[in-house]
Amino acid sequence: KVLILDFGSQVTQLIARRVREAHVYSEIHPFDVSIEFIRNFNPKAIILSGGPNSVYESDYQATPELFTLGVPVLGICYGMQWMAQALGGKVESGHVREFGYAAIRARGHSALFRDIQDRCNEEGHGLLDVWMSHGDKVTALPEGFKLIASNDACPIAAMADEARRFYAVQFHPEVTHTKQGTAIISRFVLEIAGAQPSWVMKDYIETAVARIREQVGSDEVILGLSGGVDSSVAAALIHRAIGDQLTCVFVDHGLLRYREAEQVMDMFAGNLGVKVIHVHAAADFMKHLAGVSDPEQKRKIIGREFVEVFQRESAKLPKAKWLAQGTIYPDVIESAGAKTGKAHTIKSHHNVGGLPDTLHLQLLEPLRELFKDEVRELGVELGLPHHMVYRHPFPGPGLGVRVLGEVKAEYVELLQRADAIFIEELRNSRNAEGKSWYELTSQAFAVFLPVKSVGVMGDGRTYDYVVALRAVVTSDFMTAHWAELPYDLLGRVSNRIINEVRGINRVVYDVSGKPPATIEWE
Ligand code: XMP
Repeated sequence: KVLILDFGSQVTQLIARRVREAHVYSEIHPFDVSIEFIRNFNPKAIILSGGPNSVYESDYQATPELFTLGVPVLGICYGMQWMAQALGGKVESGHVREFGYAAIRARGHSALFRDIQDRCNEEGHGLLDVWMSHGDKVTALPEGFKLIASNDACPIAAMADEARRFYAVQFHPEVTHTKQGTAIISRFVLEIAGAQPSWVMKDYIETAVARIREQVGSDEVILGLSGGVDSSVAAALIHRAIGDQLTCVFVDHGLLRYREAEQVMDMFAGNLGVKVIHVHAAADFMKHLAGVSDPEQKRKIIGREFVEVFQRESAKLPKAKWLAQGTIYPDVIESAGAKTGKAHTIKSHHNVGGLPDTLHLQLLEPLRELFKDEVRELGVELGLPHHMVYRHPFPGPGLGVRVLGEVKAEYVELLQRADAIFIEELRNSRNAEGKSWYELTSQAFAVFLPVKSVGVMGDGRTYDYVVALRAVVTSDFMTAHWAELPYDLLGRVSNRIINEVRGINRVVYDVSGKPPATIEWE
């Protein structure tokens, strides 16, 4: 396995993903873990991430003893600068920041770049198109190192001490802008460090199943099934491991998408034969939401009610010793930023699934080490349908925050039907390359606006509600662009909603980016 030391870069997680794409297991830990920790971890290779600081003015220093372990090390950006400084080279602050695409020229021969290039220059040197983002740079090589890439702005763009298998690059191989980035990272991990490419989801099932069996023995386990990807995959995996020792509690708050509750029940109770308690709690939730129109208040009520219902149901299963949750790796990584209080942007939302410890149950979190795309792959391997596993994210409070203002059963029903038409059309319409617009967007949904506007239908005047369509493209949901959906698709969706959903006579499309708007309307 590979150890990634995080110096606080926004993109450290991408390093771990690239390593795992090379089928090698990797973990991210803060830069200041002890040398004992590193020894115990027993890494096949160490990767030092980038970071926002400057090596001389910061206390972002890892233990230099890691260079004495005989383990190959790859430094990226700040990681390169720290490596240079720790091994006796020189780092100077650049007066200008270099940010964006750059072409660098590979120098001499190095195992890292051999046969990896985007093109060649006239003298036959390989050129790489890379992504740079740095202020400081290495200006003198440490003893034993040689130059392996450069360009005008950055004369030491990469360096290596091949005898000790220390490599460092000033650019960011982990971001997709660096086209050969994946090749460079696999080269380091597989060929230079000799890690085994044994991290494959199919095999992972066996390991995970064995681990779950060992952990829970003959105890019973409960899991809050929401229909979302994470809890669904966790349920399928745990069921594979312990069968009927697992009971899922599906709290149906009535704010799910059209026919979603039925689909969840069909899939789990029906196809997979999982024990699922379907709690019909819509009436309860509606009662508590009556008269409330403030979004945060609605979120609180839904969250609190969810916990209450779940606790009530789990009290009926006194034999359960374990609470299973679909926590995934990005939820658990302790980032260097968070550690020092210089946070990365942190989401304020909590999943409605966040349950208190008053349940006195031990936690079973079998997806804790997986990234979202790995969870999806695992779901498919476990036999969950592709369309379920590759669904857009859906907020915990569900349609409760997509019916603006006070939530009423009548509004929820209109919204469910309009939303289902929108999603169906997105799934069925394809761009020139044959990709569906559902795949081409990151999140898409309808929003119910409780205002009435005038329309005309046939010979009659209508006075009905408005639905807004929202579709965004984003990689991290922190920022997003509105999706440039084709007009004919929008037209078809609008026609169908107005014709098929009595009560709605106007459809509008949201063309706001995030920021300044958010993805959800509430
Ligand atoms: P915003 O609206 O903040 O949404 O741009 C960003 C992402 O978070 C989801 N979201 C939520 N998820 N509980 C959740 O579990 C919530 O209260 C919540 N609010 C927003 C939203 O769907 C989008 O994917």
